[in-house]
Amino acid sequence: MSKTVKSFTTGIARSRVSLLGAMIVTITTPFLFGAMIYDALFHIGNTYYAAAVYMLLGPAFLGGLVMIFVGLLFFKGKEEVKLFTMAYLQDYFTDAKKFRRMRKILFFTVFLTCVNVFIFSLLGYRSYHYMESVSFCGEFCHTVMNPERTAYLNSPHSRVACVECHIGSGAGWFVKSKISGARQLFAVALNTYPRPIGTPVHGLRPARDTCEECHRPEMFHGEKLVIKDKFREDENNTHLKTVLLMKIGSAGDRAKSSHGIHWHVAPENKITYKASDHSRLTLPEVTLTKADGSTVVYRSSDADELLQDAGHEAGHEVESREMDCIDCHNRPTHIYLPADVAIDDKLLNGEIPVALPFVKKMAMAIVTRDFASQDEAKATIEAELTAFYKENYGELLVTQPEILPRAIAGIQKAYCDNVFPDMNIVWGTYSNHLGHVQDSGCFRCHDEEHESEDGEVISMDCDTCHVILAEEEEDPEILQTLSGE
Ligand code: HEC
Ligand code: HEC
Ligand code: HEC
Ligand code: HEC
Ligand code: HEC
Repeated sequence: MSKTVKSFTTGIARSRVSLLGAMIVTITTPFLFGAMIYDALFHIGNTYYAAAVYMLLGPAFLGGLVMIFVGLLFFKGKEEVKLFTMAYLQDYFTDAKKFRRMRKILFFTVFLTCVNVFIFSLLGYRSYHYMESVSFCGEFCHTVMNPERTAYLNSPHSRVACVECHIGSGAGWFVKSKISGARQLFAVALNTYPRPIGTPVHGLRPARDTCEECHRPEMFHGEKLVIKDKFREDENNTHLKTVLLMKIGSAGDRAKSSHGIHWHVAPENKITYKASDHSRLTLPEVTLTKADGSTVVYRSSDADELLQDAGHEAGHEVESREMDCIDCHNRPTHIYLPADVAIDDKLLNGEIPVALPFVKKMAMAIVTRDFASQDEAKATIEAELTAFYKENYGELLVTQPEILPRAIAGIQKAYCDNVFPDMNIVWGTYSNHLGHVQDSGCFRCHDEEHESEDGEVISMDCDTCHVILAEEEEDPEILQTLSGE
């Protein structure tokens, strides 16, 4: 055996390629394996270390191994290039001694290959996990993904990994994502990525494949009470409530037929549309295909013109897209709030104290201005609030010293959760289609302007989607009734 090892090592020594490979392997091995064992047992928290291990050390190690074998087989000194010639093989297979030596080397190579396969798969497995992790997606490209990651961490899906929505299961989409990922890495390295990152994501996997791994819209039935809390810009920051009964409905299950809002995603209804803009905000043509195969085409009066113009626009393709979850839930996790909603949310959960007079008004006046950076915004919020309350409510600051710092911190957070000047993300850059307040949302179709040949229109009747039980009231009767007061 020792002889085989020896001929193996002398073989390596005789090829410069192998030698270089062996050096790389020797240098990387202790670091790589130390790090991998550490990662398996304790988990490497820092994404840059993990990237160094799996994206630099790992490939270097594998590259070194490959170089050793390539060197051995093809470059091992000029005189042995004839390795695979007939004469060479005859020589080895007829001479018993040489044959035994050859056999040993073969066994040894097979043994080493097995070890390598094991290492390759372990490395592949760990790298795969790393590249699927939230920290790789969200932190590695720090400034680029920071807004998406921040919004995500504040959302109901903060424990769902990025890849569950962006890639989903199956090898095809994994490979696709790695190809587009490689392109994106170049864009980041060369600093050519768009700011802000464009939306909607035209290459996103159809949402039915991803969302429905966890959600089944045919299983929710009935109605949902939605309460919207708002605060007036007056001295008392008066708390107002809007109460809606949302007709969530269902996509149909067992004996129940599809109805209400999730009627759109029932298996028997297929809705497709053509958008005349890249952002999918103008939808001149909507087609409903029913279970029996019949279709109803709803078009706006200017549909021909819009679609024709869109066809000429550079870079825009008028495609027929099948409506799915994200045509309504386009912000299931990257939820950027409008300024008033962001401030109202913090007032509601107490991060901004409601007891501070005019705080809503002050907050709105400052956060809606343009700032060059989050730091500048934070400094201005602190300076202007301090000056205003010192001058007008000096006494309050003495009796409740903690109230102003809390308000400042809350307003700063509302700003920094939603506005990212370095990525050109301001209030409203990414709006939400769920409803009709932030952008036209449901009214992109439900505007009574989309008409079929029979003169049917897509309904804008307020009661189609919700019952408005109270609108911006201080103490809605309906909530008193529901709570039995
Ligand atoms: C619950 C599903 C879900 C999860 C989890 C998720 N995303 Fe998204 N993401 C979406 C959807 C849906 C869109 C945009 C849809 C559209 O309008 O095209 C999107 C859009 C984006 C965009 C484009 C910019 C934008 O806001 O429209 C980026 C970048 C992005 N996601 C990164 C991430 C990163 C990084 C993570 C993990 C930290 C993540 N996503 C986790 C569903 C998800
Ligand atoms: C890996 C599982 C998973 C995937 C994939 C997933 N979700 Fe969710 N989603 C959840 C969980 C869990 C909750 C409940 C979170 C909570 O209430 O704390 C949730 C909550 C929601 C809610 C209610 C949010 C609220 O404000 O209460 C909506 C709407 C939603 N998801 C839509 C989507 C859409 C659209 C997609 C696809 C783009 C998606 N989800 C993908 C697990 C998932
Ligand atoms: C036509 C628009 C539309 C489509 C398409 C749609 N939804 Fe919804 N969905 C809504 C609205 C509106 C609500 C109610 C939101 C609210 O006010 O809380 C909702 C609520 C939900 C909820 C929360 C249910 C609850 O009882 O709290 C989940 C989860 C959800 N949708 C998942 C999905 C998934 C998954 C898909 C795709 C298969 C989908 N939706 C397709 C509009 C839509
Ligand atoms: C791409 C176009 C499109 C969008 C966007 C859209 N809808 Fe619809 N919706 C339709 C069509 C088409 C119909 C069937 C015609 C009708 O009932 O008026 C329909 C029907 C409905 C119905 C009646 C379903 C039933 O029980 O028969 C409800 C409720 C509804 N939509 C709610 C919503 C809500 C809420 C949103 C926004 C979150 C929304 N829709 C966005 C196209 C759309
Ligand atoms: C196609 C469905 C649809 C139609 C038609 C519709 N709405 Fe809405 N509306 C929604 C959805 C979805 C929301 C958002 C609920 C949420 O944010 O959870 C909403 C939200 C609202 C809100 C609360 C807004 C806020 O954030 O405070 C009001 C008020 C409202 N609608 C009034 C109306 C009125 C008035 C009409 C009739 C002209 C109407 N809606 C027609 C779907 C619809």
